[in-house]
Amino acid sequence: MNPLPRLQKVLSEMGVASRRHAEDLIREGRVTVNGRAARIGDKVDPLKDHIKVDGRLVTSHGAKVYFMLHKPKNVVTTAEDPEGRTTVMDLVKGRVPRLFPVGRLDYDAEGVLLLTNDGELAHRLSHPSFHVPRTYSVKVKGKPAPEEIEKMSRGIILEDGPTAPCRVALRRETRENAWVEMTLHEGRNRQVKRMWERMGYLVLKLERMSFAGLSGRDLRVGEYRHLRPAEVEKLKRMTKERHAESVAGRSITPRRDLRTAAPRGQLEERGFAAGGKRRK
Ligand code: URA
Repeated sequence: MNPLPRLQKVLSEMGVASRRHAEDLIREGRVTVNGRAARIGDKVDPLKDHIKVDGRLVTSHGAKVYFMLHKPKNVVTTAEDPEGRTTVMDLVKGRVPRLFPVGRLDYDAEGVLLLTNDGELAHRLSHPSFHVPRTYSVKVKGKPAPEEIEKMSRGIILEDGPTAPCRVALRRETRENAWVEMTLHEGRNRQVKRMWERMGYLVLKLERMSFAGLSGRDLRVGEYRHLRPAEVEKLKRMTKERHAESVAGRSITPRRDLRTAAPRGQLEERGFAAGGKRRK
């Protein structure tokens, strides 16, 4: 379980102020928690405690909440597990009623997972027709050839139909394994693993590095945070635009520019080799 976060961290994550400015606000006596003057370092539960700045409530209980969790491996993406395994809900303290995950990550996969009680947005973000981009770092057993990578990016046939064009870039290779970055716009079950299986490769490790363009770079494994107001706005805007396109009867199939607009080089930022070229 995550320990309760410090007040200044919560205030900065909620977009009220930077962490430094939040500390100033606390020092100046402008922040209260449950009616009492707050102190720097106070630990708070943003889902239960009433936090006010200058007398204005900044926590909104009962309202929509949006979290990003860095899901660890060996955790199930469900509210409850009949086998008693740890669920993503166990990791989010305070449990908002009817909080649910946006889409799913496999038990053995880790990375960015959104959780919300906003059913409409969750539905849109996880539905394949909205083509929300998801970027994965995939460790594959073996060394895929450039032609195989190209073939996957154009789309291959799976048992539940052809895959849409996606971005696939080889990032690093050792003698036995390859690390590949992929951006998909569909939320199909076990899609990454099934695509590699179809190509004759086994996925050894899978990490989702971003979802809908939101990256979890600032979160350690098992940590979670509130989405910032600008991030929530971005998600709403993205799904509204796509929804409007579909209602207007226009195609919402991923366009070529969506394939190239996906975030590049996230592995490079983590210290892996640059470039998608296959090394000799
Ligand atoms: N693709 C997979 O194979 N597994 C996941 O968890 C996510 C995408």
